[in-house]
Amino acid sequence: MTPVQAAPDLRVNLGGIAMKNPVMVASGTFGYGPEYADLVDLNQLGAMVVKGIHLEPTRGNETPRTFETASGLLNAIGLPNPGFDGFVKTYMPFLRQYDVPVIVNIWGRTVDEYAEVARRFNDVDGVHGLEINVSCPNIKEGSALFGTDLDMFRRVVDAVRARTRLPVIPKLAPNVGDIRAFACAAEACGANAISLINSFPALAIDAETRRPELANVTGGLSGPAIKPIALKLVWEAARAVSIPVVGIGGIFNATDAIEFLIAGADAVAIGTANFTHPGTAMETVRGIAEYLDRHGLARVGDLVGTLAA
Ligand code: FUM
Repeated sequence: MTPVQAAPDLRVNLGGIAMKNPVMVASGTFGYGPEYADLVDLNQLGAMVVKGIHLEPTRGNETPRTFETASGLLNAIGLPNPGFDGFVKTYMPFLRQYDVPVIVNIWGRTVDEYAEVARRFNDVDGVHGLEINVSCPNIKEGSALFGTDLDMFRRVVDAVRARTRLPVIPKLAPNVGDIRAFACAAEACGANAISLINSFPALAIDAETRRPELANVTGGLSGPAIKPIALKLVWEAARAVSIPVVGIGGIFNATDAIEFLIAGADAVAIGTANFTHPGTAMETVRGIAEYLDRHGLARVGDLVGTLAA
């Protein structure tokens, strides 16, 4: 009789966050959960990262905020959010119904704002981790300013780490000289994991009007166009640190995700693909399991960092 092969073990421990599988949804591409609940079985996600939360409600940038480019999406949304109180009151009762880790992306205009929003989440049931947004290219104060200056980056991660009991995951900017320096700084400051990359600063122009396509002029480029950049940065960062890495950048199917795992990511987050095909995360989970099975790998961890280079 042929022995029955057990299904591959997809579980991942992301710096203290226990996930059923390595497939997350990226901040800013999945709202706060209810927006996708009729389309996706949220319980099947590895984790959900919600849109960036600030201490106070903010409106974001003027429109147009998005523009489709060749193989990519340019956005300058500007981090609109319901504020800490609005998020906790409006969305947490909904999110607590699900058996999926909720990671809250947090942002501030100053180091103190980051620290304070992190502190407030200590008392919120159902939040499993904080992703520190130091890489949004679309606001004038804070965020990317902290993510591209190593000293400021350390100050933010230190301050958040000091104020929270939750696992912290700095989200790295791609437009830095040496990604390894930021990855190592995150680890040295006590981060439990890192995620990368955020969108790449970019510009689209309407040649007829000679105007920018976005009201904010510049935006962040995401989607398939940035996948090779993201893979290279994940590969470099993962070799520099021993904390887990979340790979993000143009993942549209299981093969894309598998490439990130091979590059050294312990988990991946689906971003832009959620806008065109909300089922991408679920299909990616199934595709990873099928690949592991086909390659005789018992655990998803057996694939991580196996690039033959
Ligand atoms: O403009 C935005 O809201 C984008 C946020 C981000 O890239 O983190």
